[in-house]
Order: sequence, then C-alpha cells, then structure tokens
Amino acid sequence: MKILSIVGARPQFIKCAPVSRELRKEHREVLVHTGQHYDPEMSDVFFEELAIPKPEHHLGVGSGPHGKQTGECLAKIEEVLIKEHPDLVLVYGDTNSTLAGGLAAAKLHIPVAHVEAGLRSFDRTMPEEINRILVDHISEMLFCPTQTAVDNLRAEGITKGVFLIGDVMVDALEYNREVARKRSDILQRYSLIPGKYLVLTIHRPSNTDNPEHMESIIGAIGDCGVPTLFPVHPRTKKYLISYGLWDRMPDTIITCDPLGYLDMLAAMDSARKILTDSGGVQKEAYLLSVPCITLRENTEWVETVEVGWNVLVGADRERIVRMIGGFIPPVEHPDLFGRDASGRIRELVGEYRNGV
Ligand code: UD1
Ligand code: UDP
Repeated sequence: MKILSIVGARPQFIKCAPVSRELRKEHREVLVHTGQHYDPEMSDVFFEELAIPKPEHHLGVGSGPHGKQTGECLAKIEEVLIKEHPDLVLVYGDTNSTLAGGLAAAKLHIPVAHVEAGLRSFDRTMPEEINRILVDHISEMLFCPTQTAVDNLRAEGITKGVFLIGDVMVDALEYNREVARKRSDILQRYSLIPGKYLVLTIHRPSNTDNPEHMESIIGAIGDCGVPTLFPVHPRTKKYLISYGLWDRMPDTIITCDPLGYLDMLAAMDSARKILTDSGGVQKEAYLLSVPCITLRENTEWVETVEVGWNVLVGADRERIVRMIGGFIPPVEHPDLFGRDASGRIRELVGEYRNGV
C-alpha cells in the first residue's frame, strides 16, 4: 500500500511521528510537508527530536490569509498527488493543510483517511471547525479518538468507515515521556521548582486577535504571582507586541521561544497547572495528570471536562484567577484516550487495501 501523509503544522508533526513509525513497518509512506509552519522551532526541531523521516516533498507554502494559504497548499498537493499516485492519503487534525490535502485527494478520487475525525467544538467561528467538518465529509476512513467523536459523526450522517481507535498523541507521549525526563534541562534553565509553577500557551485567534482577551489572560496570571513558563507561538508574539503587552509582561511570566517536544513535555509534566487554548495541550495535561485551565468557552475534548480534570474559563480574568488558586481535580483519573492508536491505523489501512 502506498500511503501519502500530509503534515504542515506543529501538532501534525507530533501526531505523525508514531503513525509514520507504524506505517513504515508494512506500507510504503511518502511524507509531504506543506510548509505551513516553517520556523526551526515550529518545524525542524520536531523532525529531529522525534526522528520523523525527511519529507519527500516540501511545498514551502508558508503563512498567509486562509484562502491564499489553503489555495496554495491545494494546488501544490494536487501536483504531488498526480506525480505520486498513492493508494491512500492520510491527513491529520484540522488545519488548513488538512483541508487542502483532503480536498486535493478527494477531487482526484484518491481515498482520504482522517486522523482525529469527528471532533467538534460546535463553534463555526473557529477556522478549525470548518476544516474538520469538510474533511470528515470527504473521508473514506475516519479514525476517531473518542466515542464522542464517533457520535458527532453519526449525528451528521457519517457511519461508514468510522473507527474508534483512541488518540495517537498518547503514543507520542508514551514514547517520549521518559526520554524527556532524562534529557530535558528545562526546569534548571528557567529555575522552575516542580509543582510550583504554571505553564501557559495561547495561539487561538479568539484570544490572540482580541486585545481585551490577551490583556485579561496576562493580567490574571500576573495577579496570581505564580511563576509561569510561557513558550510563545509566533502568532501570539506578533499580537502581544502590537498591543504593547510584550513590554508590560508581569515579572512572574517567563516568556521563551516555542519549545521542542521534549522540553515541552518535561515542563508540563512537573507543572502545578497548565493554562492553554491548545487542543493538544489539553489532552497532554490530562495524560500527565496535571489540572488544565482552558482559556476557551468550549472544547472538542469534552471528556476531560466531564471527569473534572479540565475547566473552561474563556478569557475571564476573575475566573482564571479563581481557578489558578482553587481548582482541585478529583482522585479518579479514567483512561479516556486509549492506547496504540498508531498500530490500529497500520492494521486498518492494511485491511482497507484488502477491501474490508
Ligand atoms: C495553525 C492552525 C491551528 C493549529 C496551530 C498549531 C489553521 C487555520 N490553524 O494555527 O489549527 O492549532 O496551527 O500551532 O490551520 N508563524 C510564524 N512562523 C511559523 C508559523 C507561523 O511566524 O513557523 C506566524 C505567521 O505570522 C503566521 C501566524 O504565525 O501568519 C499564524 O500561522 P498559521 O499557520 O496561519 O496559523 P496558526 O495560528 O499557527
Ligand atoms: N508544543 C510544543 N512546544 C510548544 C507548545 C506546544 O512542543 O512550545 C506541543 C504540545 O506539547 C502539543 C502540540 O505542540 O503536543 C500542540 O500544538 P499546538 O498547541 O500548536 O496546536 P493544537 O493542538 O491546538 O492544534
């Protein structure tokens, strides 16, 4: 089976690492990097640390407004697909690279397999929600991480080719957790004491593009006076500078460039709490048993909220302060995301070839 996998943004590099390792045991994989993320700390570091094979095709698409970025990916992926003739195209998550990859393949009648299918925030102002819905509706194989995702697909009339396999980010985390503990010196580098600091990430347009939201989040964390490591996404840095907030950062917030995966894992692993609007980070917080304060009004990872390990606070200054001080998760920590989803993808793709 010749599988063409398409990645382009940070979380996709992390997700593709375990899947690629599995696929290559049995199948031929061609890896395409769209170039949506391109700074070394947003791209190369993950290929190096996670030993992801060098992409056969690098499309160099870069940044731009949604239409331009998605359109350039679409045109360039189409050229690659015509040249490579894969049996299946594998796309991850919900970025513009995901949508472009799915669309280019479906138009050429190449079956699409979607990893992280069925997730919904029910908030169509999020660009990701549009991407997810469209890709799910043109996919032949839908790999769902949770039962909620399967139910969401059923509610939209999609029942064929749907597989509940668990989450591939579990595989990435399990493979790297010990390595991160041994190799990363992030705590020493920033003088962080285990259990006595917070980790913060922000990159959703609903926060970054709104000066009041950014002021409120940064202000709330300053109010609490707890040391907070803040690896800053390039999109977020751009806005923080333009709002004049970059130079008014509270002393307790330690900003740094985006971290590699091993440093990020090590930093999250020993944190008291994590504050984030990231999808992947919410999941990792749960897997590492660190309480998560989500800086959004909704989430695709509803299970983490239902079991009491994640709270949604939006960008509300008072709620954020209250949760940093007072949020205590329950003792119960059920398994929500399964295990060996990457191995299941390898098997299911093989069965698909045989017409199952
Ligand atoms: C994208 C995804 C989002 C995902 C996130 C993961 C879409 C619509 N959004 O958001 O779903 O959660 O990646 O991090 O696909 N930039 C750089 N260097 C880089 C990459 C980006 O400077 O290597 C800056 C550019 O100014 C760019 C901005 O960040 O305009 C946003 O990048 P983009 O890839 O468009 O969206 P993200 O916010 O990263
Ligand atoms: N991540 C990282 N370094 C950072 C911030 C995040 O390695 O500085 C990892 C994080 O551990 C998770 C993934 O990037 O595995 C999440 O990506 P991101 O938050 O960019 O996107 P999302 O998951 O929201 O789509």
